Amino acid sequence: GELKKWGGDHAEVYSSIRTRNDRGEYGPTLLGTVPNMDETSALETLDAACKAYDRGQGLWPTMKVVDRIACMEKFVAQMKSQREEVVRLLMWEIGKNLPDSQKEFDRTVEYIYDTIEDYKQLDRDSARFEKHGGVNAHIRRGPLGVVLCMGPYNYPLNETFALLIPALIMGNTVVFKPAKHGVLLLSPLLEAFRNSFPEGVVNIVYGRGRVVAAPIMKTGKIDVLALIGNSKSAIALQDQHPNKNRLRLVLGLEAKNPAIVLPDADLDLAVNECISGTLSFNGQRCTALKVLYVHEDIVEEFNKRFAQRVDELKFGNPWEPGVMLTPLPEPGKPGYIRELIDDAVRKGAKIMNKKGGEQTENYIFPAVLYPVSKDARVYEEEQFGPVIPVLSFKDIEEPLNDMAESNYGQQVSLFGQNIKTLAPLIDTLVNLVCRVNLNSSCQRGPDVYPFTGRKDSAVSTLSVHDALRSFSVRTFVASKDN
Ligand code: G3H
Repeated sequence: GELKKWGGDHAEVYSSIRTRNDRGEYGPTLLGTVPNMDETSALETLDAACKAYDRGQGLWPTMKVVDRIACMEKFVAQMKSQREEVVRLLMWEIGKNLPDSQKEFDRTVEYIYDTIEDYKQLDRDSARFEKHGGVNAHIRRGPLGVVLCMGPYNYPLNETFALLIPALIMGNTVVFKPAKHGVLLLSPLLEAFRNSFPEGVVNIVYGRGRVVAAPIMKTGKIDVLALIGNSKSAIALQDQHPNKNRLRLVLGLEAKNPAIVLPDADLDLAVNECISGTLSFNGQRCTALKVLYVHEDIVEEFNKRFAQRVDELKFGNPWEPGVMLTPLPEPGKPGYIRELIDDAVRKGAKIMNKKGGEQTENYIFPAVLYPVSKDARVYEEEQFGPVIPVLSFKDIEEPLNDMAESNYGQQVSLFGQNIKTLAPLIDTLVNLVCRVNLNSSCQRGPDVYPFTGRKDSAVSTLSVHDALRSFSVRTFVASKDN
């Protein structure tokens, strides 16, 4: 369908997908504009959120559970009517292919319904009376205050909402800053927000983090920083808060999830899962497999099959059928991936696939690199894009030691068949990361499962169930029998 131009004030939003402009030249496509906020308007937005919370006395934090649920139900019903437009913007703004864009939308709707159901259950469980040692308690669960939410560009709808929705339903008021890429797709939902929630409960700030988010943090009026993205931004924002000890954190950060392929692995299955694990959405997922450890006995055969499969993947525009590889939304990404490839090659790696490293203005074809040295940047850095380092190992202690030394601890994929070897290994791996995927690639969902990580990968846990708890606190009214 025709792409509708969404208007705001003055910041232009471009797609890295190239089309011909009015002058007949090929280049990035202008999609529309969003308001370009300055510090003053960001602080006015924060004031609206603080006023609506009103130190816990506002309409929203004191509203009955059934009424808050009714607002959320109204919102999701209206949101569903915007599916086609949001999906189209997901494809244009971040280059996510059609099936994955549809999945992102549908998964978000499901997440909202699941949150509503879990909230009802939580309310039933937590609002109760207890009596211990002569003290009666009326226990409740209440909001934390004003939340600053920031989602990433790779899931600009789903992961922003994975923070926003539980924060809201628990009675907090929210200021949220959309990701730089994937900002326009919120425009079709603005009316639903306006129609469904009382004034000041949901507030959006547009602009660069240091212009709009940093001044908001500096006021000290933010009670919870909820961010899915990189640690650098999370640390920079925390540092702005005048009283960091008071700030609650809900953070989903970087990861460098490995796959470990044991000598008895079903090779076709392992190759298949490593293809989707490394390259769905071009590897721009925190849960993507970012390094493959393959046992030395099978590495040659693995590389042969894997490299061939990578070369067969289709690159194209997100709406074209069967396309897995799509234009990268960040203009600097192809150049960055090129640097990683060149550096690894300088340090002894070979590009195993024929098309690896072929570059255009908005893409670089995935390179399978082997053997990758541990001082190569692609081994050290979270590439978040289409390049795949492969290492071989003789002794399982090698990948285990690397994982223990890593700054990250989100997930691992383990491929093998002998349960006697797998069982003790799984017991070790669950103490190094938070999710072990047996004979399957890493992923966050289904969203009822805990989404978290050890070390620098996460603070707090996101799942439908855990998120409600992360954005609230247990309180109680105590009285004594006289
Ligand atoms: O960027 C990290 C996302 O949480 C990955 O989610 O595993 O559903 O693609 P996913």
